[in-house]
Amino acid sequence: MSDINSLISSCESWITPELESVFDPSMASDVTVKAAMYSLMAGGKRLRPLMMKMTSEMIDCTDISSDVLYYAATLEMIHTYSLIHDDLPAMDNDDLRRGKPTCHKAYGEGFAILAGDLLLNTACERLMYKAMEKPEYAYASYKMANLAGIDGMIGGQSIDLASEDKKIDLDLLFKLQEKKTGALIESAVVTPYYLANKSTVSSVVGDETLSLLKMLAGHIGLAFQIKDDILDVTSSAEVLGKNVGKDQRDEKSTFVTLLGFDAACDYLNKEVEGARKVLSCLNGKGYRTADYETLVDYLVNREK
Ligand code: IPE
Ligand code: IPE
Ligand code: MG
Ligand code: MG
Ligand code: MG
Repeated sequence: MSDINSLISSCESWITPELESVFDPSMASDVTVKAAMYSLMAGGKRLRPLMMKMTSEMIDCTDISSDVLYYAATLEMIHTYSLIHDDLPAMDNDDLRRGKPTCHKAYGEGFAILAGDLLLNTACERLMYKAMEKPEYAYASYKMANLAGIDGMIGGQSIDLASEDKKIDLDLLFKLQEKKTGALIESAVVTPYYLANKSTVSSVVGDETLSLLKMLAGHIGLAFQIKDDILDVTSSAEVLGKNVGKDQRDEKSTFVTLLGFDAACDYLNKEVEGARKVLSCLNGKGYRTADYETLVDYLVNREK
């Protein structure tokens, strides 16, 4: 049985050098680059790169591990941009992230906006560059950009903002959470499969393993965000590295604020059970699921 801390630290040593080299050294003194690197290297948990690494090991595509690493770093850039913009005064107005002052607190709002733009733009450049270099990766590149956009993370953030101080129904709450957090997690879980199978628009239709991976990602994404909402009321800034009590303060629509703490815990357990069932199907198909099982346990117990 693997343990989550060693999975996280082995991912960290795998992803860090790739992240450190995403910008040309000749640009290092540019303030926007400095602001982007400040947030990128501030010490996130790197769970999305970890999931990418785990899927690639589970489906045994270690022969393309350098490409998986490239896409994992690209996704972490998109995730970090989403956090920089999420923290801005015009959005969640937070001053602490990853245990440090938020990007706009350290560099000012203008450079924080540019740093987010730069991370997203560079991520898109990387996706297009790889699709040119290896046309069989075009679908994987397209899909990562798509899941970051209005069908995914941005779409979810938009519903999140529009739902402040409103009573939204359960369907919309699920949609909000699936998109704002679930979409980038789907990208993490599924991208190695697209890369390994040289996927195309038509080849992904009706693929059973892919459907199971998407179902797994769906459960992990919801469980992850519900736990984030729970930690917002149970944790502390020292442990979490970000401020707590924000969802109540901003009248956000979350599982906790809308349904109450106990119901949120029930939904978390339901999603985790769902994830375990999908893992047992994948295991039945011969995939090595031990690391994902460890990750799923961690989704319930994580403290940060
Ligand atoms: C925070 O994500 C934002 C959500 C989607 C809930 P993480 O909890 O993965 O943040 P980092 O990357 O570890 O800072
Ligand atoms: C943000 O959700 C998810 C993103 C897409 C960035 P939250 O606003 O709840 O994330 P935290 O709590 O600030 O990390
Ligand atoms: Mg937010
Ligand atoms: Mg926030
Ligand atoms: Mg939150």
